[in-house]
Amino acid sequence: MRFAGKRAIVTGGNRGLGRDFARGLAAEGCRVMIAGRSKTDLEKAARGINDAGGECLYQQTDVTDSSEVTALVERTVAELGGVDILINNAGGSMGAPHGSIDAIEQEHWDAVMHLNLRAVYLCCKAVAPLMKAQGFGKIVNLSSLAARIGGTVTPLPYSSAKGAIITFTRHLAQELGPYGINVNSVAPGIILSGPRLQGMWQERLSDKEKQAYLSRVPLRRLGTVEEITGPVLFLCSEEAAYISGLNLDVNGGLFSV
Ligand SMILES: NC(=O)c1ccc[n+]([C@@H]2O[C@H](COP(=O)([O-])OP(=O)(O)OC[C@H]3O[C@@H](n4cnc5c(N)ncnc54)[C@H](O)[C@@H]3O)[C@@H](O)[C@H]2O)c1
Repeated sequence: MRFAGKRAIVTGGNRGLGRDFARGLAAEGCRVMIAGRSKTDLEKAARGINDAGGECLYQQTDVTDSSEVTALVERTVAELGGVDILINNAGGSMGAPHGSIDAIEQEHWDAVMHLNLRAVYLCCKAVAPLMKAQGFGKIVNLSSLAARIGGTVTPLPYSSAKGAIITFTRHLAQELGPYGINVNSVAPGIILSGPRLQGMWQERLSDKEKQAYLSRVPLRRLGTVEEITGPVLFLCSEEAAYISGLNLDVNGGLFSV
């Protein structure tokens, strides 16, 4: 039970990878608060974890809104007694166009930046004073392969925001390290985390594009949800106590520095 006695917030914990991170933490003794937009999905995801013997609460939250993020953290403290782990997982390209910069309107740019970058800043800012006071904390931010190679199947604002997350992570790791807080990021390659990603892979990409992507991946396949969950939970654990400021590339060997 690597996370016995710990309390975590997982943003976007209602579906996809976030739900798996929450499940994984709870299965190892962590009490978890999941936050996301869809109340139905949140309720279902929390019930699934609780039925499996874990402890999971949920709060409907728009993570781009500072007052909602503050309310999320306040409720977590009230119900769970504190926050030891924050996984900033909520993110996505929000339907922004994939083509030329000419097609990217300012609204697309702002919306994608707010979801993928502002939300990470807001959530970190909200938990940092608590973690500093307790002298312990683990923050893991979800970046993307798109940050490393530029968007191939993702739009410009998405790859830009995910790139900024890596720098944000390094900066915050330096600032919070003296307080016993580890801050790391994980940059997954394409993972079929749910219907949305399956649709993108199966419908938006041609067979030729899929083959082109897979031929660049040294391991010649997509990653599984478990293959992302393992590295993320590792960075939340004491096994990674001396790792901070790292971006962990999890992409079958396509890109790493
Ligand atoms: N799946 C992949 O191939 C892949 C690859 C690289 C990076 N990522 C990143 O991993 C993370 C999870 O991806 P996923 O595949 O599970 O995506 P997903 O679309 O299935 O899940 C995104 C989550 O973000 C939440 N969310 C969106 N807007 C929100 C808002 N305003 N407030 C609160 N929550 C909000 C959604 O409710 C959902 O739970 C994302 O940050 C994504 O960019 C995924």
